Amino acid sequence: MKVETVSIDKIKPYENNPRNNDDAVDAVANSIKEFGWQQPIVVDNGGVIIAGHTRYKAAKKIGYKEVPIVVADNLTKEQVNAYRLADNKVGELADWDEDLLDQELDDILDIDMSEFGFDLNEEIEKEERTPDALKNDFMVPPFSVLDTRQGNWQDRKREWLDLGIKSELGRKGDLTFAKSINIEGSSGTSVFDPVLTEIIYKWFIPYANANIYDPFAGGSVRGIVAATLGHHYTGIDLRKEQIDANYQNAKEIGTNIDLINWYVDDSQNADKYVKDNTQDLIIACPPYSDLEVYSDDPKDLSTMSDDEFDNIYQKILQNAVKKLKNNRFAVVIVSDVRGKGKNSGYRDLTGMTKRAFIDSGCCFYNDIILLNAIGSAAVRARRYMKSRKVARVHQNVLVFYKGDITKIKDEFDEIHGLNDALENVDISSDNLSSL
Ligand SMILES: C[S@@+](CC[C@H](N)C(=O)[O-])C[C@H]1O[C@@H](n2cnc3c(N)ncnc32)[C@H](O)[C@@H]1O
Repeated sequence: MKVETVSIDKIKPYENNPRNNDDAVDAVANSIKEFGWQQPIVVDNGGVIIAGHTRYKAAKKIGYKEVPIVVADNLTKEQVNAYRLADNKVGELADWDEDLLDQELDDILDIDMSEFGFDLNEEIEKEERTPDALKNDFMVPPFSVLDTRQGNWQDRKREWLDLGIKSELGRKGDLTFAKSINIEGSSGTSVFDPVLTEIIYKWFIPYANANIYDPFAGGSVRGIVAATLGHHYTGIDLRKEQIDANYQNAKEIGTNIDLINWYVDDSQNADKYVKDNTQDLIIACPPYSDLEVYSDDPKDLSTMSDDEFDNIYQKILQNAVKKLKNNRFAVVIVSDVRGKGKNSGYRDLTGMTKRAFIDSGCCFYNDIILLNAIGSAAVRARRYMKSRKVARVHQNVLVFYKGDITKIKDEFDEIHGLNDALENVDISSDNLSSL
């Protein structure tokens, strides 16, 4: 088959073309613009179109001066007429397998398929298509950037903090998580973000009473939010003072601590506490290399050399994957950190995290940026720019899936109405009443 490019004026539609194609012209024009010419127009020896009338009209509409053609010079006149009809007819004989079509459409994320005539939102009213409307169902728009600076995020955070969560307890001096990476609580006290925690639990856990495992427990937030939402939480942390403070905080608030197990240990020993294939979610916020040194325990990742850190960190994550049931998510909140002096390029903690999960057979499923408050970054940015470093005001929320991603829709119900007041959150146990 020889494809030639000719002036569009050299070809013409068949005057008796029995097919009405005007409604399809825009979609085909969009397709040609998006994907380029992937299929030439078929013409006879006289330049009369046999197959491709809609492509011809779309090209004219876009304003193309030239089009790719194939001359079907091996067909008789009768064959040409027959082929013109047959080409249109065979399309009619096929129909869609709606389930497979849905799956295919769901997997196409960055191309707007409605441009090509697929009606993706037939049941969604116009006013429900805005980011604001998404908040009603998902708390915050489920986009790849989560903006903690938004008013509703901050309001929700205040609600959680008003319960009395003090995740900063258990740390010495200014060893408060993320001071240095600029995460500030509403009262100036920094805590792991309870709203992020809530969103992760509500988006990525399939049901109430689920089991959550956290290999770097740190402060109390992730345990308290888990129990408040009616989940069982197991967190391991090396530091006893941290775990003691967590229990104290959870008790003060009145959290149902039957739902929480905080263990003091190296999470390399997780097998002692968590059985394989039992967990419905892994949530992990590891030390960001030695950005904050948590203790002088040589088993503390934040005290290790870069090589040791890389090795042990990945081992701990790989072991965590074993704890996860099949068809479940793992979420890691991590920020990249720079090396020192001449090595001040990024350590690539995000890459390391992805490799650990992918090597364990997981799929890297969502890549989310968590936008933090600007805070002191405005001041730091001026100094950093002398070395052409831009000030980092985000962390990464990396979401992995263990299992068959085509099963997600079966395993996880559709999400609706998450933007409920905290006191009304739908929980399965009665622990909320004691908050
Ligand atoms: C970034 S902090 C976690 C901060 C936490 N996201 C929070 O909300 O407070 C990491 C935690 O990992 C703990 N850690 C470091 N090495 C560990 C290890 N080998 N096993 C268990 N925990 C470890 C540290 O004690 C620290 O509390």
